[in-house]
Order: sequence, then C-alpha cells, then structure tokens
Amino acid sequence: MAPIYQSVKFGLDTLEATEGVWRHARPGYSYSRDRNPSVRELEQAVADLQGTEDALVVGSGMAAVSGALLPLLKAGSHVLLFLETYLPTRRLVGGLLERFGATHTLLSIDDRAGIEQAFAERPPALVWFESPTNPVLKIADIGHLVGLARTSGALLVLDNTFAGLHQHGGTGVDLYVHSLTKYAAGHGDVMAGAVAGSRSLIERLRGPAALLGATLDPHAAFLVSRGLKTYFLRRTAATESAAEVARFLAAQPFVRRVHYPGLPGHPGHELAARQMADFGSIVTLELGGGERAMRVFTDSLTLFAVTPSVGSTESLIVPAQLLGSQGLGREAAARAGLTAGTARLSIGLEDPADLIDDLGEALARASAAEEAQE
Ligand SMILES: Cc1ncc(COP(=O)(O)O)c(C=O)c1O
Repeated sequence: MAPIYQSVKFGLDTLEATEGVWRHARPGYSYSRDRNPSVRELEQAVADLQGTEDALVVGSGMAAVSGALLPLLKAGSHVLLFLETYLPTRRLVGGLLERFGATHTLLSIDDRAGIEQAFAERPPALVWFESPTNPVLKIADIGHLVGLARTSGALLVLDNTFAGLHQHGGTGVDLYVHSLTKYAAGHGDVMAGAVAGSRSLIERLRGPAALLGATLDPHAAFLVSRGLKTYFLRRTAATESAAEVARFLAAQPFVRRVHYPGLPGHPGHELAARQMADFGSIVTLELGGGERAMRVFTDSLTLFAVTPSVGSTESLIVPAQLLGSQGLGREAAARAGLTAGTARLSIGLEDPADLIDDLGEALARASAAEEAQE
C-alpha cells in the first residue's frame, strides 16, 4: 500500500533542490496546501477513472464546485444552469458569484428549445449541468449540450456525482465535477471533491484552489483511495438492488410514480440507455397520500436512514419534508419534478430482499394511515 504522507511540509537535502521544487523547475513537494503525494495519488486515480488527462482533488464536493467556478468566471460572465442543479451550486452562482458580477440564466434541463434559445440570445461563458438530476433523475442530452457549447465556445461542466466516475467519459464535456464524498469514498465517513479535465484546464484551477485553502487532508485522501478499490463492486451491487427496488415500487398501488432511468417508462430511459453504463443506485418515488402518509412511510422504515447524501454502504431516504422546494418557487419546483409525495432513496449494500420487505411494510402502514384519516 502507498504510505500516507501525513505531513504538512517536505524538505530536500540541498537548497538548490528545494529551490527547484519551489520554482516548479523539478518535480517534488514543498507544502501540503499546494500539493501532497497522497492527494496526488488520488488525483491520478480520479483522472484514470474519468478518462481525463488530469484531476484536482479538494476538501469536499462543494470545494470542487467553487474550485471550478471561481477561476473560470469573471465580472460580466454569463452562466447557464438548471432548475435541477444541486441547490448549493445554484446558491453559489446566483448568490455569492452574482455579488462579483457574474450573471446567470436558469432553465429546466428538459427545456431543449429554451436551451437553444438561450445560446442564441445570450451565449453563456459556462454551462453547468448534472445528469441524472436530483432528485427525479432527469437525463440531460449530453451530445446536444456538447454541440451547442462547441459552436458557441462555452465551457461545459458536468457535475457527474450521481452518475459516477466511470460514466460519461469522452463525451466532449470540458470538466467533470465530483463529490467524492458519495460513491468514490463510498462508506459515508469522509468528504472530498474532484474536478477532472484536460491538463491545461486543471492547471488553471490548481493555483486558485490553494489560494482558497480548499486542500484535502492526506489521511482523507487515503480513505477515498481505499474506497475506490471497491468502487465497481459497490456500484454494481447497489445498482442491481436499485433496479429490483424500482421494479417492486412500480408495482405498488400506493406508489403513484417511480423515477428510475432503468425503467422503460422513465422519460429519459432511451437516452440513459444510450449514454450511460448503468442506471445508478438512486430511486425516487411519488408516494400516494399526503404529508401524514409520507411521515408514516419514512418513520416506518427500519433499514433506511433519514439523512442526506447518496452512495453510501447503507440505504438512505430524503422525504418530501426534507427535500422541500429546493429553493425554487412553487411553479419552478413543479417543473423540476418536486411534489409533496417525492421521496429520494439511495440504495446501499443491504440484501435487496430485506430492503423490499422494509419498503413493503412501510407502504402498508402509510396506506393504512391515509385510509384511517379519510
Ligand atoms: C450533485 C452534487 N454535487 C455536489 C455535492 C456537494 O458535495 P459535498 O457534500 O461533498 O460537498 C453534492 C452533495 O450532495 C451533490 O449531490
């Protein structure tokens, strides 16, 4: 195993050698806020998995989001992003970065005509998107966005956290952003983030990330690297279970709708089948009944922790009460696919038969509670 370089600083035997490293004239390390061998090892693994020349690894997924946005935007830059984009990313662009003069257009990722119009009327400097989206797993047409971005010269950034490091490589996207906290680390015990892309783009981000102090600790880098050793095994098992859970839920009368790109009835199924290697381990459902039914359903589950995040060993649920409107007005939240019955499940590594029993029992209780109320 590679050692964990749990050191803040690195010295060489001579001043000449040290100077060479400080001036980047020879390879080596000087100070861990800038570079550290354990972090570098993880960067190379991330780049290999995502199929890019290089990667930058930082202290959290949000550090990766801000680490990609801040150096690439300036006052007057226009950003295209989507209603379905992760809420803190929308807050960063629409709140913090707006104070520094960046502007943005917010559309639904489904709105193909609106996206084309936005490119024609006000070509963005940068387009930021996710696929599948949170929480109803809409599928973005990556080829369409790549074509528009190429023609207009916009930088195209895909937050690929939900799809994972093994997906969407070689699609012509300029930068891939990941919360490594999720599938890469995989055990729910460490936070990290990454941006992967061409060597030249990653070099543009590296200096600013150090200036912002977004550094990942070497021990955390080791934990993520260790998580990566079982990445495909975990991902495959959780994805297979998610497909079983989705099929089970789709057959339940108290479930109005199941959002899972692997189901043939999902609006993005064919696109997902073309552009994805697997359909992932997140399943979102629309529960019948109202607020009370959702509370009974959630509280009746014994194998699903009520907590944020995805891609952990254990199964997780975020019900409508916690999803809220994702910072959107009522009409925009509806366009983003959010309803009072939406609950997002992240399927873990438990036996899928146990998960299905647990969900079946909770659905029966929720449905009985709804009937008792009527
Ligand atoms: C799509 C997406 N991007 C970024 C992040 C931020 O990652 P982190 O929690 O590691 O900062 C998350 C976290 O949930 C996410 O779901």
